[in-house]
Amino acid sequence: MYHAKAYSAANAASPLARTTIARRDPTAHDVRIEILFCGICHSDLHQVRNEWSGVMPTVYPCVPGHEIVGRLTAVGDAVAKFKPGDLAAVGCMVDSDRTCPDCQAGLEQFCPNLTLTYNFPDQHLGGVTYGGYSDSVVVDERFVLRVPSGLDLAGAAPLLCAGITTYSPMRHWGVRQGQKVGIVGLGGLGHMGVKFAHALGAHVVVFTTSPHKQEDALRLGADEVVVSRHAGEMQKHANSFDFILDAVSAAHDIDAYIQLLRRDGNITLVGAPEKPLAVPAFGLIVKRRSLSGSPIGGIPETQEMLDFCAAHHIAADVEVIPIQKVNEAYERLLKADVKYRFSIDMASLKSE
Ligand SMILES: NC(=O)c1ccc[n+]([C@@H]2O[C@H](COP(=O)([O-])OP(=O)(O)OC[C@H]3O[C@@H](n4cnc5c(N)ncnc54)[C@H](OP(=O)(O)O)[C@@H]3O)[C@@H](O)[C@H]2O)c1
Ligand SMILES: [Zn+2]
Ligand SMILES: [Zn+2]
Repeated sequence: MYHAKAYSAANAASPLARTTIARRDPTAHDVRIEILFCGICHSDLHQVRNEWSGVMPTVYPCVPGHEIVGRLTAVGDAVAKFKPGDLAAVGCMVDSDRTCPDCQAGLEQFCPNLTLTYNFPDQHLGGVTYGGYSDSVVVDERFVLRVPSGLDLAGAAPLLCAGITTYSPMRHWGVRQGQKVGIVGLGGLGHMGVKFAHALGAHVVVFTTSPHKQEDALRLGADEVVVSRHAGEMQKHANSFDFILDAVSAAHDIDAYIQLLRRDGNITLVGAPEKPLAVPAFGLIVKRRSLSGSPIGGIPETQEMLDFCAAHHIAADVEVIPIQKVNEAYERLLKADVKYRFSIDMASLKSE
C-alpha cells in the first residue's frame, strides 16, 4: 500500500479539497498509472453532491474522476499488454467478474459484479474505490485502454466517459449516412455526440438551450442548430428523426423530443437527471417510437472508440484547468458554461 495525493469531498455540501488516500501496490495483473489528465464529467458532480442517492448513494470521502489518461510507472509480473512508460487510459470501470455472459460478450458495463472507478466497494483495500482526481491509480490491466498515438492527451481523457457513452448507443442503434440524428444538450457528452454522428455520416441537428453555442455547434459538425426554447423551431422537425441522443443533465421536457421522432425512431437517454422525467404514453404509441437508455460501453468497444477517434482526428474540446479550480469548474458546469469539457492537468496536484 502507498499514499497518493487526491481531491475529495467530505460530504454532499462540502467543496472538494486536498487529501491523501491509500492505493494498493500493483498485484501480478495490475498497472500503476501516473495520472496526467482527468476530465470532469457531470456524473462527478451528481455523485459528489449525492444527487443519485436512490440508486448509488455516495460514500464519503468521495474522490471522483473517471476520465483518466496517464503514463505507466509500474506493471505487475503477469502484465502482458503494457510496459512501464506506456500511455494508458482508464474509464468508468476498474473490474468485473469476467465470467458472466455480459463479460464474456465484452459488455462489462452490464456485469452484475462490476466495480466502478469510484464510489464502489474496493475488492482489494475495503472501503470504496477512489477515482482520477489523484496523482496516480492502480488498475487491473484488463480494464486499462491503450491511447493511440497522435491524440492530444488533455482532449483524449474525456473520451473515456463522454466519448464512449455517446459512441456506444450510436453504434448500437446503427447511426449511419442518410439518417437524421438529434443531439440534445451541447455539454461534454453532447459535443462528443455531435462529432461522432457527423463522422458516421448522419445529418446532425443540435438542440440547445444556449443560443450562444450555435456557432460552436456548427463548427463541431452539426448541420443545423435548434434553440429548444423556441417551440416553433422545434415543431418544424416533428416526425423526422431516426435517432435522438438526449445528454441533458437536468429536468427537461423529453416528450418534446419524442414528438420529433419518425415512425420506429429511437430516443436514447444518456443524461441522468436527479429526478424522473415525465413520458406520456401516446408520444411513444402513435408512431411505435422507442425510448431507451445506455450506460458507457464495454472495454472492447471503448478501445474501438479510441482507435476510431485517432483515425478520424477526434478528441474532446477541452478547457484545461489546474485542480485548484475544480470547485469553480463545478459551478460553471451547473450553468452549462463549459466549452466543452474541463480537463484537469494533474501536474497542478503534484506541485501542490
Ligand atoms: N449514461 C451514462 O453512462 C452517462 C455517462 C456520463 C454522463 N452521464 C450523464 O449525462 C449527463 C450529461 O453529462 P455531461 O458531463 O455532458 O454534462 P454537461 O457538460 O454539464 O452538459 C449537460 C448539458 O445539458 C444541457 N442542460 C443543462 N441544464 C439543462 C436544463 N435545465 N434544461 C435543458 N438542458 C440543460 C446543457 O446544454 P445546452 O447549453 O446546449 O442546453 C448542458 O451543457 C449528466 O446527467 C451525466 O451524469 C451519463
Ligand atoms: Zn462520466
Ligand atoms: Zn461479469
